[in-house]
Order: sequence, then structure tokens, then C-alpha cells
Amino acid sequence: MHDGFELTSQKERDLITLAHLDSAAMLQLVERACEHRRATSGSADGVKLSGFIGQIFLEPSTRTRISFSIAAKRLGLDVFDIDGETSSLAKGEALIDGARTLVAQGISALVIRQGLEGITSRIASAVEVPVINAGEGATSHPTQGLLDLMTLIDEWGDVGGKRIGIVGDIRHSRVARSDAEAFGACGAEVVLIAPQGYSPTPGTFAGVEFSDDFDGLLPTLDAVVMLRVQRERQEKGEAPAVDDYVAGYQLNAQRLSSARSDLKVLHPGPMNRGVEITDEVADGASSRVLHQVANGVHLRMAVLEQALMDRP
Ligand code: CP
Repeated sequence: MHDGFELTSQKERDLITLAHLDSAAMLQLVERACEHRRATSGSADGVKLSGFIGQIFLEPSTRTRISFSIAAKRLGLDVFDIDGETSSLAKGEALIDGARTLVAQGISALVIRQGLEGITSRIASAVEVPVINAGEGATSHPTQGLLDLMTLIDEWGDVGGKRIGIVGDIRHSRVARSDAEAFGACGAEVVLIAPQGYSPTPGTFAGVEFSDDFDGLLPTLDAVVMLRVQRERQEKGEAPAVDDYVAGYQLNAQRLSSARSDLKVLHPGPMNRGVEITDEVADGASSRVLHQVANGVHLRMAVLEQALMDRP
């Protein structure tokens, strides 16, 4: 059950949202990702898959698109990239027709990033092949949630009982939703911290604590996920002024000095340096940002493998 969003059912091998996975399923993917990471080259157990992956990215991406590409190639899969400018989507073809066209050509799985809530699951319902959500509007980003879970499991072995703050532009953040689902399912206490203009729409999160008091809560946290301020998704006038935001919510060296000395700092990227995070924190000893990026490759290997492997 996922509060606040209408979700259609997903096929067994789709990954549309983490709301459909329990903690055991999430931890199994993280464990398999760790096995892929331990493989010095290629994949764990020498796994090789065959087939073609279609990557439809209608919003910009560096980390997710490239890591899915590397993951697919390490598994032996071929990758085709489709965007909104150079494909027939630019001629007005409906996304669902574009997806069906790729499947008719023999694509084995679709990896889709697009901005509209509910469209990824609608496409999944319309095609036979597995569909993986690579980020949908402000709704969900399940592989980011899983790779952030993996990054914190690397630190602690288990997120159970840990207190994790997700800080900043919660309202527009698909990462906040998927992180909260992943951390919460695995037993962490999740605290959403945001000023008024970035607080979530009522009903979009369940089982989490809300606050606007970053300074008050920071010393109580084991980890923080600093979110990107998403200017491209904001309505005019809803966002706090940048100076006010920086004063209350930027993670900088001074604020970090009030946190636990072993605080882990995550950011899904891309970072707005000087807005939600400063250089000295992004590049400092607490930062796990590049570890998150590296884990993204292995986690997406596990996701693609699960979607495409033969089963008895
Ligand atoms: N975290 C994330 O989704 O980054 P990209 O937009 O670069 O894929």
C-alpha cells in the first residue's frame, strides 16, 4: 500500500515503485548487488544475459542512465538509448506507442525516465517485457532508494534502529519517496525535514516524522540525505528565498559541527553546490556521494538480472 498515489499493479518483473517490495525483497537485491561488486570484472558468478535493453529517457540524467548502461553491458546486454529529441517521440508519437514499437522490434526490457505520475506503470501494463522505473516526476525513483539503502548498509550492516533525515525539497523529490520507503521498510526511523514551501503534499508519506527544524534535529541523526532543490518542478512563488533556505537548511561545515561525528552524508545528485550543500561537506570525510554513485552500477546490475534472468 502506498499512501497518496494511485498505482496500478505491476508485473512480477517490473520495478515501478518500492511500495510493491517488502524488506526481504529489497535486501535480496542489495545482497546481490554486493556480490556483483565483489566480482573483479563482469558480474557475480560470471552471469551473462542476452538481449536488448531500451532506455527511454525523457528527462536529463547522468548517473542513472550511465549506470544502467554500464550495468547492462557488464551483464552482456546491448543497450539502445531513446530520447525525446531524436526519436519519433519528437514527431508526436505517444510514449506508449514508442514503447510498444521497441518491444515489437525485440527489446527485452525497458528502462524509463519520464516526468508524469502514473505513466510508467501504464506503459508496464501495456507491454509484455519488464519495465524499470528510472525516475518518474516527483513520484518515485526505486533504484535510487535501493542504492541509498545499499550505501547505508555498507556503513552499518543494517539500517534497523538508525535515524535518517531526508532534508530539503521533499515536495518535488521522487528520491525522498523511494528513500523513505526503503529505509522505513528496513526498520530505520525516517525524519523528513523541510521548510514550508518544500514540505510534502499531505498524504504522500506514511510512517515518517516531519519537521522544519533542521538545527534541532541534526544532532539526533545517524545519516542525512540532502536533496537537490528542484527549481524545474517548482510553481512560481512556492519556494523559499534562496538566502532563507541556505540559512535554515544548507549543510555546511558550521552546521555539520553540531552533528554526530560519524554522521553519514548522502546526496542523490546532481548537487547544487552552495545551495543545499557546500563544497567542504560534499567533498569531506562524512560524504558518501561518490560511494552512492558507484553502488548504482551494481545495484542496477541486480535489478536487471532479476528482471531478465531465466527462472525454472
Ligand atoms: N540521482 C539521479 O537520478 O541522478 P541523475 O539525474 O544524474 O540520473
